[in-house]
Amino acid sequence: PKEQIVIVGSLNMDIIMKVSHIPRVGETILTNDIKNAAGGKGANQAVGAGKLGGQVYMIGRVGGDLYGRELYNSLIKNGVDAGGVVFDDMLPTGNAYIYVSDNGDNNIVVNPGANSRLSVEQVQTYEAIFDKASYCLIQMEIPMDTIEYVAQVCRSKNVKLILNPAPAREIDYSHFRDCFLVVPNETEIDLMIPGEMTIEEKAYRLLDKSFQNVIVTLGDKGCLLVNKDTKQYFPAATFKAVDTTGAGDSFISGLTVALAEGKPITEAITFASIAAGITVSREGAQPSLPDKETIKMYL
Ligand code: RIB
Ligand code: NA
Repeated sequence: PKEQIVIVGSLNMDIIMKVSHIPRVGETILTNDIKNAAGGKGANQAVGAGKLGGQVYMIGRVGGDLYGRELYNSLIKNGVDAGGVVFDDMLPTGNAYIYVSDNGDNNIVVNPGANSRLSVEQVQTYEAIFDKASYCLIQMEIPMDTIEYVAQVCRSKNVKLILNPAPAREIDYSHFRDCFLVVPNETEIDLMIPGEMTIEEKAYRLLDKSFQNVIVTLGDKGCLLVNKDTKQYFPAATFKAVDTTGAGDSFISGLTVALAEGKPITEAITFASIAAGITVSREGAQPSLPDKETIKMYL
């Protein structure tokens, strides 16, 4: 049976600094709380899905360094098949510099490093895995030509592609024809569909452009699902915000695992919302991703 989830995406070591508030332009502040944690949107989504019992295969690229090793180990430890992860001696492992403020807000600067060398050729090397896959997850921390190539492979091999357009970049919609699902947040949809329109109108524009389903994540306001049959809002699960890092990734992992198990999209969204809520209530990206038992306590 086709039940494999393929993830083509980034792996970053996150350097997390706790700060009283996000520094303003020109401001200098102090922190005495700085930690590393495994991150990167691709790896987070892989680990999230692995922890939830998904059958996950990752294609990615890290440096031939200690951080790369740690990120690789984190995949393995969480049940991900990391057979498509390459160690690259040309560039160091990607890093994300993250400020987390007392109220749980964050901002992030990413230095992609080895992620920027995740090429079309690398995807081609591991392309046979798509024959077994039912879903593919992709984000935007890797080169655009690689993303576009993956979209084409998914279309030709009948794999449902879930596009997480993060961080926000402009895309050429012609490469994403009939894409199963796009999951932007508010900032990302504003960049994809600029102009004075409501989020709903923008979601419908995305639907018209090339996607079968659109889910706009709205932070603590939940999310909006739009497809040709329905327009529906879902509430966020309420948890105390400690560190929102990884919440979007957690949502996508939860959603995909539930869909791969055959759940309807509305049920998958409820499951995903709880996953994201739990992630918001814990520190770090990968360390904050829940397992299935924890989610079931809140269902
Ligand atoms: O989505 C959260 C992730 O974004 C972090 O783990 C960081 O690595 C950045 O890629
Ligand atoms: Na978190």
